[in-house]
Amino acid sequence: MPNAYISGTGFFVPDNVVTNDDLRDVYGIETSDEWIRKRTGIAERRFAPQGMGTADMGAKAAEMAIEAAGIDKKDLGMIILATLSPDHVFPGSGVLVQRQLGMADTGNFVPCLDVRNQCSGFLYALGTAASMVQSGNTNHVLVIGSETHSHALDLSSRGRTVASLFGDGAGAVVVSATEEDRGLRNYTLGADGRFAETLWQPMWDIRNFPFLPQDEDGNGIVAPEMMWASMDGRQVFRNAVEKMITSLMKVCWEEKVDTKDIDLFLFHQANLRINEYVQKQLNIPDDKVFNNIMRYGNTTAGTIPILMAEAEREGILKPGMKVGLAAFGSGFTWGAALLDW
Ligand SMILES: CC(C)(COP(=O)(O)OP(=O)(O)OC[C@H]1O[C@@H](n2cnc3c(N)ncnc32)[C@H](O)[C@@H]1OP(=O)(O)O)[C@@H](O)C(=O)NCCC(=O)NCCS
Repeated sequence: MPNAYISGTGFFVPDNVVTNDDLRDVYGIETSDEWIRKRTGIAERRFAPQGMGTADMGAKAAEMAIEAAGIDKKDLGMIILATLSPDHVFPGSGVLVQRQLGMADTGNFVPCLDVRNQCSGFLYALGTAASMVQSGNTNHVLVIGSETHSHALDLSSRGRTVASLFGDGAGAVVVSATEEDRGLRNYTLGADGRFAETLWQPMWDIRNFPFLPQDEDGNGIVAPEMMWASMDGRQVFRNAVEKMITSLMKVCWEEKVDTKDIDLFLFHQANLRINEYVQKQLNIPDDKVFNNIMRYGNTTAGTIPILMAEAEREGILKPGMKVGLAAFGSGFTWGAALLDW
């Protein structure tokens, strides 16, 4: 059985920088730089312009990852795209990325899978990609995490708790087969559907007939509480800390690796305070953790692949390093992974 390793990374974030002060001054949200920084560590995030969406950003990150992997698009055997902000209800955004990469034009009709596991989406996608590679189904899987949050945030004082956390961006990796002794060593994934409504954006309820109420002209009506994401922040915080720690411990235990032996931790970027808490509980020194939430906010499925791409380019993530990943998000869903880079 071949090993599955990450052969290339890439990322894309839109140019438009939105600072905490901009949320107040440009969008009129009653908030402050001090409040957001103190509770979340976020200083700024990126917002995609009108006309740019999840597949657009995902395709840009993918191009960079494919080039870094030193392969050609025709070598890819599958695309897995993780997102909670797909371009449309259906079809998924994976097929849109495939189209943008021009693969179908050259007869490369690779399967495209959308993963809907929010902040843990990248880890779910990575585990699936590794299994496809290790089973011998294909040698290279393109894995993307991409989010366009800003176009679906309640950018008003009413929505400030959620709106101040999220930003737009995409990260991508190529997961490839290798006979070398490296790559993804272990991963664990979990979910607890009892908390499905603790962090959610229902938009509609398909149990209703019709699924959306209509006005007399036939337009669908979406009530604000259905339209915008809502969250019990404290409940999310508590569970995130617990599940990130226990899932990291699980992969370390199974691999007989001490957390001290891990060279670099790349945690999901939901809130700097969550990551600091996890770091403290596991006694991890500062120089072994790379965070970028201060610059991008929470890009959900995009956070870990963006971190990987930046860390590689900044020389923080180097071949031979033992890397720990952990994430937690809506669902609730969570996961952790251990890699030899
Ligand atoms: C969201 C979070 C920062 C809120 O912090 P908190 O200390 O729990 O704050 P609360 O929600 O209790 O709100 C406290 C007050 O701040 C206010 N507030 C919320 N957002 C604000 C903002 N952006 N600016 C200013 N005030 C804000 C609230 O309205 C509330 O005011 P009130 O006491 O007058 O009602 C925190 O709960 C958190 O980070 N949770 C995890 C969220 C997360 O990571 N989500 C993504 C998961 S993948």
